[in-house]
Amino acid sequence: MMRFSGITPSGHTQLGNYLGAISRWAADGGAEDLYFVSDLHAMTTTHNPAGLRGRATEMLAVLIASGIPAERVFVQSDLARELGALTWILECTCSYGEAARMIQFKEKAKGQAGVRLSLLTYPVLMAADILLQGASDVPVGEDQRQHVELARALARRFNSTYGEVFTVPRAVLPHAGARVRDLADPTRKMSKSTRDSAGVVFVLDEPELVRRKFRKAVTDGESVPAYQPEERPGVANLLEILAVCTGTTPPEVAGQYRSYGALKDAAADAVIETLRPVRERTLELLDDQEELTRIRKAGAARAAERGEHRLSSALRLIGAG
Ligand code: TYM
Repeated sequence: MMRFSGITPSGHTQLGNYLGAISRWAADGGAEDLYFVSDLHAMTTTHNPAGLRGRATEMLAVLIASGIPAERVFVQSDLARELGALTWILECTCSYGEAARMIQFKEKAKGQAGVRLSLLTYPVLMAADILLQGASDVPVGEDQRQHVELARALARRFNSTYGEVFTVPRAVLPHAGARVRDLADPTRKMSKSTRDSAGVVFVLDEPELVRRKFRKAVTDGESVPAYQPEERPGVANLLEILAVCTGTTPPEVAGQYRSYGALKDAAADAVIETLRPVRERTLELLDDQEELTRIRKAGAARAAERGEHRLSSALRLIGAG
């Protein structure tokens, strides 16, 4: 089994990324697993080149600080040539309709002028990420499931049309923390690219700021916590966050608090303690750019070497090279 997943530096790493994805990547820890910073994916909407470069480095540091071994990480753009070639092969395997059906594309393209073509094709690049490395299991949050399904369909189609090259991957979702919601608007998921960050807890936020964000979390007209995700999404979100951080379940946590205020403080404390070591270690790593550069180079060499034979086989089988 090989687990493989990535995170896009379209903003700073937030609590949903950590609870729903990164902390599990660190805990699973198989010898073949690989995790990466998908910086090429952060160019599908208007972006700032210098900002992107800085965030990619920051995310690499966050992955390592979260406990993923340094020899299991890399940065996507270091494999830009291999991925560019494989993306083209897979675009020639994917139909326009399949790409246009992606929910994230429809949501992000809605009402936008000058939508970049890459916003439509980015799930194909994501399939190339996965298939190049021969991943079998792709641990992601709920929002990425459809993209992994596309990678699965493309692998099957390529294998049956041209010959067996690709491992057929599957999405693996977490039991808890798959969809952490925005504290200020619990009807939507917490996202690093949300313009108003009042309800988004970032991994590198100062503890006091984390506490303030939890105190202002939107709840409802009731006052005693109960776990009712449909009717009371704000409180359910706080209960889920606290349960993931403390290794319990939301209904169990609900029984322990008599007021929303006490629940908010407990959730803030749990998140601050969960993030503290990650934050501290990330800041240390960012102070040692030489070490980060060394880790990045070694990761790129390993990932490129691992994918090489699949790319050359795919090119040959499709009638090129
Ligand atoms: P990205 O950067 O949007 O998110 C990284 C991971 O965090 C999960 N996640 C969440 N989980 C729970 N609650 C939330 N509020 C929340 N927000 C985000 C995501 O599901 C994801 O697992 N396209 C991908 C990166 C990518 C990738 C890949 C992943 C590129 N190539 C290949 C797997 C395999 C993305 O933008 O994730």
